[in-house]
Amino acid sequence: MKKLSVVIGADHGGFEMKEQLLSRLAKDYEVADAGAYEYNPADDYTDFALSVAQAVAGGRATRGILVCGSGVGACITANKVPGIRACLCHDTYSAHQGVEHDDMNVLCLGARVIGIEMAYELTVAFLNARFSGEERHRRRLQKLLDIERQALQGGDKGEAG
Ligand code: RB5
Repeated sequence: MKKLSVVIGADHGGFEMKEQLLSRLAKDYEVADAGAYEYNPADDYTDFALSVAQAVAGGRATRGILVCGSGVGACITANKVPGIRACLCHDTYSAHQGVEHDDMNVLCLGARVIGIEMAYELTVAFLNARFSGEERHRRRLQKLLDIERQALQGGDKGEAG
């Protein structure tokens, strides 16, 4: 059976955890490394979050994993890319339910918040989950996609009436 294709990236805050996850996940998934390729305390999470998000949005990977210090900066950045549904999940329920109900396609982790064992369990929960396809989940996803499309077209900027 074809392995799920995954792309993983991290800044200096998540570099060590990304390296460990990469080697563990490579046994069961096809994993591409979007960098950082070396520890550089001056690098920026935005660069790696953009690479991972573009790989997923462009169809070069099915799922993405991002690691930074808290997971927050990477998550905010990834969600700027149309088609990305990135979430910071530090509990396994959200890591799989976010895929099953919300079609989450990028998992963000904070290497300064959780340890490697928790991070690995979260990635496995995320990668093994599948979108339910149930009507209510498809309906909500479609509403979300409509909001994204309207925002891209410069629609409602949220001004008070
Ligand atoms: C880097 O020091 C840190 O700010 C970054 O990894 C991340 O935590 C941002 O959200």
